[in-house]
Amino acid sequence: MDLFEYQARDIFDKHGVPVLGGVVATTADQARAGAEHLGGGTVVVKAQVKTGGRGKAGGVKLAHSPAEAAEKAGEILGMDIKGHTVHQVMVAAGAQIAEEYYFSILLDRSERRYLAMASVEGGMDIEQLAVERPDALAKVAVDPLVGIDAAKAAQIADAAGFAPDVAGPVAEVFMKLWDVYQGEDATLVEVNPLVRTADGAIVALDGKITIDENAGFRHPDHAALEDAAAADPLEARAKEKGLNYVKLDGSVGIIGNGAGLVMSTLDVVAYAGEAFGGVLPANFLDIGGGASAEVMANGLDIILSDPQVKAVFVNVFGGITACDEVARGIVAALEMLGDHATKPLVVRLDGNNVLEGRAILAAAAHPLVTLADTMDGGAAKAAELANA
Ligand SMILES: Nc1ncnc2c1ncn2[C@@H]1O[C@H](COP(=O)(O)OP(=O)(O)OP(=O)(O)O)[C@@H](O)[C@H]1O
Ligand SMILES: [Mg+2]
Repeated sequence: MDLFEYQARDIFDKHGVPVLGGVVATTADQARAGAEHLGGGTVVVKAQVKTGGRGKAGGVKLAHSPAEAAEKAGEILGMDIKGHTVHQVMVAAGAQIAEEYYFSILLDRSERRYLAMASVEGGMDIEQLAVERPDALAKVAVDPLVGIDAAKAAQIADAAGFAPDVAGPVAEVFMKLWDVYQGEDATLVEVNPLVRTADGAIVALDGKITIDENAGFRHPDHAALEDAAAADPLEARAKEKGLNYVKLDGSVGIIGNGAGLVMSTLDVVAYAGEAFGGVLPANFLDIGGGASAEVMANGLDIILSDPQVKAVFVNVFGGITACDEVARGIVAALEMLGDHATKPLVVRLDGNNVLEGRAILAAAAHPLVTLADTMDGGAAKAAELANA
């Protein structure tokens, strides 16, 4: 999960990373009040969108008075930045910048460790710098078991070529940013720019944090960071029910057990769909091991309320939860859903107790259910029904 800049700012603050005051505003009037709250002096009004290049797009503007802050907020709110509409701005205290630096920590999957990157030439064109003059961007491997301690922080500052009088203070900030990275279970922490102000302080003026949601159980406070307004309503409902659901754009709803089987079902449906005018899967839904009637009903309920879905393909391989239990789950789910179940269902069962499972579905003879013997056959049937 990517965070907004203002959320990153608050987290930096919590871990002792130096930041400036900032107030979030959703209207021009709130921006004026925010600027007053910050002392009435110079502020920077910054678009809060989860994409880079805000400054270049006109989403970061200086204002010298609360009235001007309101005016700039009025210009920025509603702006479109790379497909993201600006719904909120942060009014941030203005810094007297002497120098702009770059610093980030990220997960280096291929090397199975972390990577810290730093440059004394931070600011808005870091991507260009990385391509044109890679030497100006220091890359230092970080051992996950050691992290960024004083020695590593000094090594990073040295590799980036910080002046001797700045190296000490920035190294202190690197260690605190490591504290953010590890303490919050982040996969990315980036500060661009990290600045030296006219009076010599090192301050994080912009922050990006990506949180590892797999560590959510360790951070109950992270749930509040989610952007509920941006979430897909079906995905949000599925999440509430504890379902592993991802909305896609096609018309064949998919239910399967096990992430691998569901992924290959998506492929097989997309392939079969080519013969029916390019029919595609409508979602990923893994109902996992214990496919109880309730889980099946919840899954079907979500999928059937997607207006794009025209047909559903249930593809289950019976293991510990045998096919007869799954079949009973489907029958019970259809009963529970009653009139709400309106779209054709193609069911392919295989594995443990497959014959019993198929017999249960055959006996129930639900008018919406078609049985398929193979995964390919089921995918083709579902694609055909979705195209009908
Ligand atoms: N609080 C501030 N005071 C003074 N100048 C600022 C402040 N915040 C940002 N700036 C200036 O604006 C520039 C752009 O700001 P920022 O880095 O937050 O946005 P961005 O880099 O364009 O956005 P992104 O990082 O999403 O690409 C900074 O490099 C800095 O020069
Ligand atoms: Mg930036």
